[in-house]
Parts: sequence; structure tokens; C-alpha cells
Amino acid sequence: MLKKKIFDKYILITGGAGFIGSHLVKHFVNKYKNYFIVNLDKLTYASDLNYLSDIDENENYSFIEGDICDLKLLNNIFIKFPIKYIIHLAAESHVDNSIKNPLNFIHTNILGTVNLLEVAREKWANCSGQHLFYNISTDEVYGSLGKDGFFTENSSYLPNSPYSASKASADHFIRAYGKTYDFPYIISNCSNNYGPHQHLEKLIPLTINCIRAKKNIPIYGKGDSVRDWIYVLDHIDAVDTVFHLGKTSETYNIGSNNEWTNLVLVNKICDLVDEKLGTKNSSNLISFVSDRPGHDKRYAIDSSKIIQELNWKPKHSMIKGLNLTIDWYLSQPPS
Ligand SMILES: NC(=O)c1ccc[n+]([C@@H]2O[C@H](COP(=O)([O-])OP(=O)(O)OC[C@H]3O[C@@H](n4cnc5c(N)ncnc54)[C@H](O)[C@@H]3O)[C@@H](O)[C@H]2O)c1
Repeated sequence: MLKKKIFDKYILITGGAGFIGSHLVKHFVNKYKNYFIVNLDKLTYASDLNYLSDIDENENYSFIEGDICDLKLLNNIFIKFPIKYIIHLAAESHVDNSIKNPLNFIHTNILGTVNLLEVAREKWANCSGQHLFYNISTDEVYGSLGKDGFFTENSSYLPNSPYSASKASADHFIRAYGKTYDFPYIISNCSNNYGPHQHLEKLIPLTINCIRAKKNIPIYGKGDSVRDWIYVLDHIDAVDTVFHLGKTSETYNIGSNNEWTNLVLVNKICDLVDEKLGTKNSSNLISFVSDRPGHDKRYAIDSSKIIQELNWKPKHSMIKGLNLTIDWYLSQPPS
């Protein structure tokens, strides 16, 4: 009789069919054959299971379509698999959508997170050994910076959009569980990610797609908002580092020290795409539109804690990351 294989760690990754989640799931499934990865995703418009087709048959991987707000389903997952680790990414992630429909964000990002916390708290209450709830959060919880300074792990939470308020609220619940129930958690707050698999609603893929289709490239306000960009695989590497080496009850900021105004970034993408496609002057497609309400002016992350304490550092320069990203989008069928 065949013996059922036992794995060293059973990890529930939520939101693993989305942009960052799909890279993370593939990374863990391929790198850690001794870990079993359960990917729970509701498959909203932002997800794409095709990104995971090459790991579908792996013996250390299982996909479950479902909602983190479904308590019964979460309970069943914990009954079926001996989950001791959760890496939580499932979320509504687009700020503009949160302005149009905040309730969706409250539902998934806050209630969904608290559901997961409740199930894990109950299941882990009388278990021995190590457990961890690792929350993938955003630097947007800190609000907006002026011209100078950086967000550190001690910066106050001052979220400005319904999206960032919902992520901040989830972070607060997780910390509160840590204090109240001695619940084992880590939170990392990362800057703006870019790379393959990101939904076309986000600035970099939107720009590449508009250039390709020779459509106007919309830029909010004067395009002078500053974002601190990180290539998605550098974020994945940081999550792997924090998961294995981070201390429970701690927060880690993750960024690439890589600030660009939206206008300079979009112009750079125009130049790179023009070079690759042999087109000219795509920056003429830039079209300024009314600013987003409550638009944060500047984000910038101080990552010295994760660099010094956990020995992580980003490996992709913006130009290298942009080239990889543009090449990937241009290799996809036009949408
Ligand atoms: N993209 C960034 O720049 C960035 C930066 C820092 C932190 N984050 C955080 O990282 C996480 C992932 O971000 P992303 O950019 O990959 O988002 P995404 O929108 O690309 O993916 C989110 C995934 O969550 C799934 N999902 C949504 N609601 C769900 C629910 N109720 N139950 C189960 N699954 C659900 C979606 O189907 C999708 O696959 C989010 O928590 C986000 O706040 C993102």
C-alpha cells in the first residue's frame, strides 16, 4: 500500500491566484518540496489561475476556490489539512474601486481577515509547536509623506483611502489578537509592487497596454505623486525571508528605495516600449485627468530593519524590473 506523504509544513496562502500571490505560491511550491501549499482564492476579476497552470499537478500543492469570509469553508480546510502557517494576501486591492465601493473592501479586507484570525485562533489554541499568521500589508496604511522623510515601522497609521483604511484595520485586528490572545503573527508593509501578472487596472500595465493600443494614457492630476516601486520578485524574496527568519509580533517594512513621480515613470515606460516596438513618441499619448480624491502625495519606505536584522536586500534595479515587466506584457495577447 502507498504511504501518504507527510510534509514538514502545511501553509495556507490566501489570494494566491492574484498578482503577488501567484508569484508567492509558485515560489514556495517550487523551492520548498517539503512544504504543502494550500492556495485559497475566490477568483475575483483580479485573479488568473493560468499563472499557476505549471504547478497544478505538483504533489505539494492544492487549490481551493472559495471566500475567506466563508467560516464553514475555512473550518473544513483546517480539518482537511494540518495548517500551522498562514500567509494572508487575499484582498480587494485597487484604491479606485475602494472609492467607488468601500463596502466590498470592508467585507473582504476586514471581515475576511478577522474570520481567518478566528478560525486559526480556535484551531491553534491547544496545539503544540510553532504557528504563524503572516499578513501581507501595505505602506499605504501610513498615509502620505511630504517632500522629506520615510515611513518606518514606528510611523503612525494615517490611512487616507477606503482601501488603506481597510488594510490598516486588518493590521490593527492582527496586532490586537497578538496582545489579547498571545496569537503568533508577523506583519510586513510593502511599497508599490510591479511586474508580470498584475491586473491591467494598475498604472504600469495600464500604461504598457495603452501604448500598445495607441490609446490615451490617463495620469492623475499633474503626475507629480511619488511612489516607491519594488519588483514583485524582490517582494517575494522578502516574504520568504520574513516567513523563515522574522520574529513573531514584529512588523517589517519592505521597499526598494526607488522613488519615481508617476509622470517620470510613465515617460520612461513610453521610451522603453517605443524602443522594443520600434514606435515613436508614445509619450504624446499622456493625458492628464482629474486627480483621485484624497490622492496620497508621496510614499517612501525605510527598509533598514529587514536589511539589517534579516539580511534581505532587493536585487532588481527599476530599469531591469521594467524591462522584464514590459517584455512579459508584450508577450501576452493584446486585450
Ligand atoms: N500590489 C501592491 O503593490 C501591494 C503592495 C503591498 C501590499 N499589497 C497587498 O498584497 C496582497 C495582494 O495584492 P495583489 O496586488 O496581489 O492583489 P490582487 O488584487 O492582484 O490579488 C488579490 C487576490 O485575492 C483574491 N481575493 C479577493 N477577495 C477574496 C476573498 N474574499 N476570498 C478569497 N480570495 C479573495 C482575488 O481573487 C485575487 O486573486 C493584498 O493584501 C494587498 O493589499 C499589495
